[in-house]
Amino acid sequence: MTSFMRVLTTLLGNLLPRLLLSTALTASATEMPKLVNKNGHFEFDVEGRPYLILGAQIHNSSAWPSVLPKVWPALEAMHANTAAAPVYWEQMEAKPGQFDFENVDLLVKGAREHNLHLVLLWFGTWKNGNMHYVPTWVKTDTTRFPRMVNPHGEPLDVLSANAPANLNADKNAFAHLMRHLKELDGEIHTVLMVQVENESGAIGTVRDFSPMAERQFQSAVPAEMKTAGKSASGTWPQVFGGEADEYFQAYYQARYVNAVVEAGKAEFPLPMYVNVWLAYPVAQLPERQYAVPGQGYPSGGAVQKMIAFWKRNAPAVDMIGPDIYSDNPDFVLDTMRAYHRSDNPLWIPEIGFSDNYAKYFFSAIGNGAIGFSPFGVDHAGWMTAENGGPMMHAQNYQLFAPAAREVARLIAEGKVKTAVEEIGQARQEIDFGDWQAQVSFGFPQRDGVAPPGTKDAHGRAMVAQLGPDEFLVTGFDASVAFHVPGRLPGLRMQILRAEEGQFDGDGSGHNVWKPLRLWNGDETDRGLNFRQQPTWVRLQVGRF
Ligand code: DGJ
Repeated sequence: MTSFMRVLTTLLGNLLPRLLLSTALTASATEMPKLVNKNGHFEFDVEGRPYLILGAQIHNSSAWPSVLPKVWPALEAMHANTAAAPVYWEQMEAKPGQFDFENVDLLVKGAREHNLHLVLLWFGTWKNGNMHYVPTWVKTDTTRFPRMVNPHGEPLDVLSANAPANLNADKNAFAHLMRHLKELDGEIHTVLMVQVENESGAIGTVRDFSPMAERQFQSAVPAEMKTAGKSASGTWPQVFGGEADEYFQAYYQARYVNAVVEAGKAEFPLPMYVNVWLAYPVAQLPERQYAVPGQGYPSGGAVQKMIAFWKRNAPAVDMIGPDIYSDNPDFVLDTMRAYHRSDNPLWIPEIGFSDNYAKYFFSAIGNGAIGFSPFGVDHAGWMTAENGGPMMHAQNYQLFAPAAREVARLIAEGKVKTAVEEIGQARQEIDFGDWQAQVSFGFPQRDGVAPPGTKDAHGRAMVAQLGPDEFLVTGFDASVAFHVPGRLPGLRMQILRAEEGQFDGDGSGHNVWKPLRLWNGDETDRGLNFRQQPTWVRLQVGRF
């Protein structure tokens, strides 16, 4: 080799990997995470490809350097691909104008080391309808930072949404956070999106009754307020009648949050969403009567009946996501359907961590969700998988983690359907038009006898249509039998090929199907049987 060749080889040897790395970084630099609306089906693109958020939210006081070592192993055991973790205003700006990003930096570093993405939760003006996370200098200066006042004239533990000083302080802090994130993560995109505030709203009053807010309430509604079907001229009571108080609060709050989002996006335009403390039906009241705003839920939040109003008045907010803490099946499904709209992707930012909520992961993906995130997943809180806590969410994520990209694509194409067991509904049908899948929950299943169901109704199954006669099937404690409409399984149809396989990452964010064996005989004769093992089957069926 000539000396010229030697130099060239050395140079290439040293430089090529770096060049490739920098190309990879540049490539990802252009690929901001983004939400794409495909005719009402949503896709969340990460590195330019559909991504399914297998999320896990850590406890409120777990995003501290001293606690993070107890967080990462729990997320690993959960098989999550994304951690949701708070950023505390009180810590980040403990002194006005002085910002400390140590917690955020460690979150991002830790997530990268554990091969996770992050959703950051901005605990700013609101946390669960109160102001608990604002810095002490805000808490103690009630003149500069006005509180909400209840109808009896008493100030509350909630900042007023009608006070510009409150908004400006929050906006400023949030903008600093987003500027810092851009510097820290603007190329790599470990952080996928940001939740702005946490369950915003007012606990303790339906609206602000301070003299300032009272004057606004008795004046004409703002010209820029967007309503549907109702005249938007007149005072609040004239326009909204008996619901005027709640709409007043919702309007000023939606505008406030929208302004915080805009300030953050001006620095770094990641997708941003709000989460909602829902209005739950009150047991004593007739069906579908909901709790009182300001008591049963924080007034002004984007609860079920306020989604459209919030969408219109907070257009910079990309998504509104429901926090689900009732496992009543009707409530869960009504909620998912209410928040999945042609203008709002379905994203479940919080749901109970106990096993009884796990099957609703299947309901979420069957309803087009871009992601799902149980609350309280770490080893610092009260419920952990390691100390014998619930495991079914982890079982779901273990199954879906290697297939997440593929499933996200299928969801965005509207091809994923699911069946979720409920008490007394051990047999269900999934309808694909020319084909139907009969799902039977619980084992053993005997000929001529209805399926037994599982003890706690946790069975769940997913069927995705890959082609006219081809399906991808999985589930737990379920058997899935295909048939032509109006005929029993096995009549005038046959299984052409039932291939069990796994998804493997190919290192570039794609999922590659790896066949393992063909199922036949006992594995297919009475339906494809999915028990506790994480298993996928690609099925080809034919008519004769
Ligand atoms: C909902 C809140 O958004 C979370 O931060 C946490 O407080 C949970 N409730 C606790 O159940």
